[in-house]
Amino acid sequence: MTDRSYEETEDVPIRRPMGTPLHNIWETRLSRRGFLKSSASTLTVAATGLALPVSLSACSQQLPSFDFAEIEHGVDETHHVAADHQADILIRWGDPVTSDAPPFDPENQTAAAQAKQFGYNNDFIGFIPLPLGSELKNNALLCVNHEFTNDDLMHAAFDGAENPLTAYTRDIAEISMAAHGGSIIEVARDADGTWQTVPDSPFNRRITASTTDMKLSGPAAGHARLQTSRDPSGRSVIGTMNNCAGGITPWGTYLMAEENIHGYFMGALDDHPEKANYTRMGIPGQFYPWGLYDERFNINKEPNEANRFGWIVEVDPFDPTSTPVKRTALGRFKHEGCETAACPLGRVVVYSGDDQQFEYLYRFVSDNVVSPDNREANLNLLDSGILSVARFNEDGTGVWEPLIFGQGPLTPENGFESQADVLIETRRAADLLGATPLDRPEDVQPNVKSGKVYVSLTNNSKRQEDQTDAVNPRGPNLWGQIVEISPEAENHAAVNFTWDMLAVCGDPADDAVNAIWNPETTENGWFACPDNLAVDPAGRLWVATDQGKNWAKASGTADGVWAIDTEGDLRGRGKMFFRVPVGAEMCGPCFSDDGQTLFVAVQHPATDGTEAFPGFERKSTFGDPATRWPDFEAAMPPRPSVVAIRRKSGGPVG
Ligand code: FEO
Ligand code: CA
Ligand code: CA
Ligand code: CA
Repeated sequence: MTDRSYEETEDVPIRRPMGTPLHNIWETRLSRRGFLKSSASTLTVAATGLALPVSLSACSQQLPSFDFAEIEHGVDETHHVAADHQADILIRWGDPVTSDAPPFDPENQTAAAQAKQFGYNNDFIGFIPLPLGSELKNNALLCVNHEFTNDDLMHAAFDGAENPLTAYTRDIAEISMAAHGGSIIEVARDADGTWQTVPDSPFNRRITASTTDMKLSGPAAGHARLQTSRDPSGRSVIGTMNNCAGGITPWGTYLMAEENIHGYFMGALDDHPEKANYTRMGIPGQFYPWGLYDERFNINKEPNEANRFGWIVEVDPFDPTSTPVKRTALGRFKHEGCETAACPLGRVVVYSGDDQQFEYLYRFVSDNVVSPDNREANLNLLDSGILSVARFNEDGTGVWEPLIFGQGPLTPENGFESQADVLIETRRAADLLGATPLDRPEDVQPNVKSGKVYVSLTNNSKRQEDQTDAVNPRGPNLWGQIVEISPEAENHAAVNFTWDMLAVCGDPADDAVNAIWNPETTENGWFACPDNLAVDPAGRLWVATDQGKNWAKASGTADGVWAIDTEGDLRGRGKMFFRVPVGAEMCGPCFSDDGQTLFVAVQHPATDGTEAFPGFERKSTFGDPATRWPDFEAAMPPRPSVVAIRRKSGGPVG
């Protein structure tokens, strides 16, 4: 345990523009939280224009703390989980998804096989009990995103290649496209609590970047800026990619967030009307040379194609023949995720961060209410509503600014001719509304038990000291922070909110880091670079980290899952629960409805920062990876995999 306390942060050297020391802001937040608890019962739902009494029972309810012995910081070739818990590999890259999938043969992989097998780099995991709305919890659908591919660790062809581009082939590009997207798999739990995939389930489905037809819907669908030579309608598009985090809607659909879509485009635009729009999104990012094999990824050949990515995709997992829909009403940016909540009137609220340095936090509120009895009636709910962007004030208040064509600066004078323009260029619209630039907003997680919303701001190496503010208190910021939002009157649709820091991440024993944790946090309980978040059925918050190649510098430990208290005397205490193998990133924490299983996604084992892995100290290659997790067989490359964790002695995880 460290000897650091909130009071001992008085020596924090950071000076913010208002000259307010960090600890004063922290103390103000603590006391305001007390105020809110005592006065909130008098609030009404101002944002909706209706005076609706709001039940505050959840607000005063004390959430339980955690009951497990934490593991230690460290890094090695395998995963680690807290004592009395068992971690079983559920499914790995290449395992069959559809019943006709061939066995995985890494040396002879094909795009056709990959399109039927579990994709690469599992990220978001969503859990939907079967049948929908049932109390039976031994069968479920898992909806899993496949964010991107590490081609050099998937194919022998890159070993020894001077220039990876010369080793790239059409086959490799097509395998990569087929390994992107998502998987829907049925899983079943046996008597001893172990989950298995159901190989012949009719629900099993692969969604890819190259083989899945999708529709565009909402205000931007059909707009000229979304039309291409292959799709003059501007309403149909092939595939999705860079699906990072996501969400499951109250009506049991699967939301896939399209994040770093810029990396899939090549070419250059001179004097083209989309030039500024694309520059704002970093297009062309040229991570992958897909454009050599499919012209739609070359912006010279197909200049509007990139406007058809960067959306939220909604998939009905109960109909494997359904056409996924890109919901343009939720805006176009680098969507990290899209978690939902309900407002008191029954509208659905979707939170989504735009994961790039100095980008923004968004919220969508549907125009219509969720129908609890008629699932069909909800299937196009995400086509109309109001998208807003967050402004965080220095005093701990905040406001959601609506992105509505014709209102404020979102007019033809500023180049917006319609709501479609506002949505296609969401970032520029948000700039004009005075949104607060954040330290890379990753997952945004509402807690239905407490009514709060948690925002991972993962890091921002580009923020300068003179660019800091209350919600982004450090520059450069290598460690990130977790912000807690309290919607006014516990109404996720309210215009106003207050906000507070839950943790300012990094090593609390290093004064130069200026971290803030609960003093009960041990030397293993702190973490850096929060990313995916999950709330378990008891209302407790769990955090997955993504330090990338900087893990040795940011914390010295591999990524993992930490539990963090959000209430009471232990608020802000982290506890380390799970650790990934070297080079991996921790994604997808997701609980079964009974809290007895935590599913986690181990992404790109052997990839990040292996030069700093003691004893290995070099870049991984296909033939020489830093780990061959999880098979540890000479013929098997490292494989991104979903892991199911349960308590050996039974009962809820953690
Ligand atoms: Fe795909 Fe923002 O992590
Ligand atoms: Ca992420
Ligand atoms: Ca989440
Ligand atoms: Ca990340």
